[in-house]
Amino acid sequence: MQQIQSAGLLKSASFIDGQWCESENQFDVVNPFDNHLLCRVADAGQKEAESAVIAAKKALKEWAAKSAAERAEILRNWFDLIQDNQSLLGRLLTLEQGKPLAEAEGEVGYGAGFIEWFAEEGKRVYGDTIPGPAQDKRIVVIKQPVGVVAAITPWNFPNAMIARKAAAALAAGCTFVVKPAAETPLSALALAELAQRAGIPAGVFNVVVGKDSSSIGRVFTQHPDVAKFTFTGSTQVGKMLAEQCAADLKRVSLELGGNAPFIVFEDADIDAAVEGAIQCKYRNAGQTCVCANRLLVQSSIKDVFEEKYIAAVQALKAGNGLEEGVDLGPLISQKALEKVDELVQSARQEGATVRLGGEKQGSSQFYPATVISDVDTKMKIAQSEIFGPVSPIISFTSEQDAIRIANDTEYGLAAYFYARDIGRVWRVAEQLAYGMVGINEGIVSNVAAPFGGVKHSGYGREGSKYGLDDYLDIKYLCFSGLNT
Ligand code: SIN
Repeated sequence: MQQIQSAGLLKSASFIDGQWCESENQFDVVNPFDNHLLCRVADAGQKEAESAVIAAKKALKEWAAKSAAERAEILRNWFDLIQDNQSLLGRLLTLEQGKPLAEAEGEVGYGAGFIEWFAEEGKRVYGDTIPGPAQDKRIVVIKQPVGVVAAITPWNFPNAMIARKAAAALAAGCTFVVKPAAETPLSALALAELAQRAGIPAGVFNVVVGKDSSSIGRVFTQHPDVAKFTFTGSTQVGKMLAEQCAADLKRVSLELGGNAPFIVFEDADIDAAVEGAIQCKYRNAGQTCVCANRLLVQSSIKDVFEEKYIAAVQALKAGNGLEEGVDLGPLISQKALEKVDELVQSARQEGATVRLGGEKQGSSQFYPATVISDVDTKMKIAQSEIFGPVSPIISFTSEQDAIRIANDTEYGLAAYFYARDIGRVWRVAEQLAYGMVGINEGIVSNVAAPFGGVKHSGYGREGSKYGLDDYLDIKYLCFSGLNT
């Protein structure tokens, strides 16, 4: 912490209009590994959220008027500074979130990658010319920034979820206000410090940190100066926030919960499938929206897959994320752990077989890596987003059976499958009702790829060439009277 502080990256107040803003009250940020106090942070609320929106509105005209190349240069400075500080930012992330250091540093690089990507992509906001309906008419289409963007981001990726949204918004010429999760505000504030050093003008990037999510959320969804609202988090909260935005018809994008199937067909390379499933399931201790939530394994290979998979899960080392060789950190809170355990115990009661783990360890915030076999698709654990290091295994007999089970959920974020038959690969990929499909691949996240879901997993895409669309309005210009 000392090093982070000396580098000026430990900040404890909201960043609004280029200023660090103290508040009357403070709240604690703790390390989920041992619940030690890391920092007391100024607790902002409605008033600060309003000031941030007003600052973003004030800064909009000048930022939007800059050329894409000018914005790209400033974003590029931000990217460079984040990269230069990757190891300190990674440490800070591990301290407040708990994930292993290598993953935390990976997340910082992943987040920075969006800033680099959109700095360039912003230069390619092309319009269109369309043949006019008469000789003296021309149709031209231009794209313009939507305006002030307000965002709420989660604790599971405290750096990258902000960077992914802010980079696209700023590159498009929008200004930005974000409320990070109260569990993990420090990474967000460090990003703000680096944004300022990078030359991002006051009011263009604002961070409001506070415990009163509902008051801050109401400002973001109802303030007349907010043109677009973007949220990453649970489906339940996303629906409520989208409803609040509806009154003003604000543009909304939502990256919500998932219930990813990870299907292993009998023609798969089983070792590759085991490796992919471990990465997919146990990244961030299973606390990701895209992680495998149900493993679907063809019955003819169930025994061999389970044996290899359990051996690989057993080899995972839990511990303090700052220590070398740790694969699994703690869960974010005791409440989160109770929810995971409740799902495991309900599966046990419903007749599933716990093959590994499955018991809380005293008052520890670590949940053991758990594998549950003989799970049925109707069990609560198969229908809920687990958000923990638990692998429920469901067996299936045929391809159609696998697709039916995989799609038997309200969610539609990510799905994965391992198979080698090329006909099967196409058939299954086309029939999975998901926004993203990993084929012989356990990690689909990538700056160049469109991240997002269908059904109750939300709408809108982040990253890739499509990621700018959510931050741009299309304007059609009708030119007439061109004949001499
Ligand atoms: C999430 O939890 O959905 C974000 C994960 C990612 O971007 O890979």
